Amino acid sequence: MIERRDRIFHLQNDSASYLFRAAEHGFLEHLYFGPPVSTDDAEAFAVHPGTGWGCSVLYNDADNAASYDILPLEWSGSGRGDYRESPVELRRGGQPLSTEFRFCGAEELERDEMHASLPKSRGGQTLAVTLEDTHAKLRLTLLYGVLPTAMTRRAVLENLGEEPVEIRRLMSQMMDLSGSFTLHSFTGGWIAEARHTRTPVTQTASVLGSTTGSSSNRCNPGFLLADPEATEDSGRVYGFNLLYSGSHYASVQKSLQGRTRVMQGISPVNFAWKLEPGDRFETPQSVFSCSEKGFNGLSEQMHTYILNCLIPPYWNGRSRPVLFNNWEGTMFSFNEQKLLRLARHARRIGCELFVLDDGWFGARNSDSSSLGDYSVNRKKLPGGLSGLAEKLRRQGLQFGLWFEPESVSPDSELYRAHPDWVLSDASGREDLMGRHQLLLDLTRPEVRDYIVKQVSDTLDSAPISYVKWDMNRHSCALGEKQHAYILGLYDILGRIFGPRPQILLESCSSGGNRFDCGMLYFSPQIWCSDDSDAIERLQIQNSLSYLYPQSCFGAHVSAAPNAQTLRHTPLPTRGNVSFFGCLGYELDLELLPPVELAEIRAQIAYYQLHRQTFQFGRMRRNKAPDGALVWQVTGKDETLVGLYHELMHAAPPYETLFVAGLDPQKRYTMASRPQLLRVGAFGGLLRYVLPVALNPNGLVISTADAHYKMKDGEQTVTASGAAFAAGVALSARYLGTGYDANGRMQSDFGSNIYLVCEEKTGGET
Ligand code: DGJ
Repeated sequence: MIERRDRIFHLQNDSASYLFRAAEHGFLEHLYFGPPVSTDDAEAFAVHPGTGWGCSVLYNDADNAASYDILPLEWSGSGRGDYRESPVELRRGGQPLSTEFRFCGAEELERDEMHASLPKSRGGQTLAVTLEDTHAKLRLTLLYGVLPTAMTRRAVLENLGEEPVEIRRLMSQMMDLSGSFTLHSFTGGWIAEARHTRTPVTQTASVLGSTTGSSSNRCNPGFLLADPEATEDSGRVYGFNLLYSGSHYASVQKSLQGRTRVMQGISPVNFAWKLEPGDRFETPQSVFSCSEKGFNGLSEQMHTYILNCLIPPYWNGRSRPVLFNNWEGTMFSFNEQKLLRLARHARRIGCELFVLDDGWFGARNSDSSSLGDYSVNRKKLPGGLSGLAEKLRRQGLQFGLWFEPESVSPDSELYRAHPDWVLSDASGREDLMGRHQLLLDLTRPEVRDYIVKQVSDTLDSAPISYVKWDMNRHSCALGEKQHAYILGLYDILGRIFGPRPQILLESCSSGGNRFDCGMLYFSPQIWCSDDSDAIERLQIQNSLSYLYPQSCFGAHVSAAPNAQTLRHTPLPTRGNVSFFGCLGYELDLELLPPVELAEIRAQIAYYQLHRQTFQFGRMRRNKAPDGALVWQVTGKDETLVGLYHELMHAAPPYETLFVAGLDPQKRYTMASRPQLLRVGAFGGLLRYVLPVALNPNGLVISTADAHYKMKDGEQTVTASGAAFAAGVALSARYLGTGYDANGRMQSDFGSNIYLVCEEKTGGET
């Protein structure tokens, strides 16, 4: 809902009110962003600058309080006395251009007509507030969107003058919030994405962002500002994100007056955009939300927004197939026979989609050649893609394919034919390479047309139901083309996948190097990280869950020891972590012992049974025992809870499992998922339970280990919803005093999944 009263504007949805007004001198004053209030309350939130602060530059020399610097604002210009960070920086004729934008008018729009290529939130109402700087001859339109669980903002700048203006910085939004906060950001790097960092917000600015040309694995564009006392279920939390996949920027800084200025947009580093007379520049949308119900409340609102208003509607609520991907199993070294053998295993264990990763085209037997040449390598695949797809179809598997269309190998037909198609440094300096590849210049229409044609022709040449769109290196030659590159990328994605909505697009960039709301507009899921180690993934998926729903996470079970960490995580835990995402398997299935294949078959069957809940249930992070994490998803008639431990310590205490959101009056039964406990996990300890002393490294034990499993942590509890909310007692962990068939006999990195359903009459679940 959007309410206007005189010069007061009130945006409201179920969780929040956002109030601002056009104040004296025409500046937009930020009044309030928090739990719903009435428009009548607006005045109550206005600050009273009294006799003003010293050292202020004044709009009225007789009024010490008439300073731009001390008002909570919705937007600030530059060089006119607000010395806090400005969201705009312009130049005209090579000189800095000062700006002060004053209110001109506002209107509700039927539709927010955005730049055709920029991702846009779907639905909602839009308010356009127009400001002008008559001296600088500029018009600034601030567009506010109101959606059921979030709000959006973006800015459009128009040059009304006769001379070009250079935009050096134009943020999507800026606001001066009231309150004290802790900043929660998600930073890292390759195979170490989304590490949760907490920083107190003070007068020392905190700056988040990326300058790589993509949203990057260094700092996710999404962040939170939370009441320092907020918990998962209480306290005020604001979440911010950006519908953009290029270099981004956000800053958070508290003023002396106690207001926190937060802004977010395209990174100003190396940014320059020439705005010719009569032209307009549009920023991407920033999306934000506020909850009084702690981090989980905020997460739920952001998840709902992403599912209902951002991802391609075709994929909202639509089951994602359990996939097998050959990358970690084979890398580049495969042929059709090997793929078909893997496919046979994959089908037997229950996979539904076979994804052929890198290496199927040109002469790509390593990462040193062929990017750009998407013609099938007939030595590896004599029957071509359609031949392979047909064989997979006969086995009952759908077919998915990997591409890296933005890049080119210097050793490729494409590069030899069009060496000028790569991004080149404006000063003539050679671009630097990484992984033996360069980036194509997506700002050129002929390059975009080429990519659209190559990928579309391939997609139309075989029944391909899934695409993994990879992008593995940045270019140092992007320079001022960085924004145009991203617009080019969006144009390409829109042209390829717009007409093919039924193709499931999973984007990837060396894992999570472009995990953002811009990509989610086109691809409903993203490969979170090249780190497939379940324990690392636990942290990565946990961090991402603050802002993104679990159906956005490509989550695969890979081999142990893990290729990124050398960790031996038990197979059940590898499955239990991947369950909270779009499940896949990425390992050489031919190398697994029967007992592991049986465990995987059981994992997939369990996941398929509860797939809708795992993928689209309401996800929350629950109170957890020390050193553990607990995730919960709640679907139509069931709740699933995952409990994950990291390191084992001797004599572990009793543990309690909390299940939230059940009806306190009803009775529920909780049952653990039966899972594999390897015989070999006990090594030489087996002599205590076996009638004969066997060599733990001998044939009998290794044969038993490959074929048989022991019982682990199988537990059933029936109790009221109130009892589950208060916490029910779990079976004991391994206590160092012997095997307990009813206990959780796990060491480091043990985990369990519990299914909670309403008790059926007759006591059955
Ligand atoms: C990087 C991706 O993240 C991997 O999953 C894999 O697809 C490789 N690229 C292939 O080169």
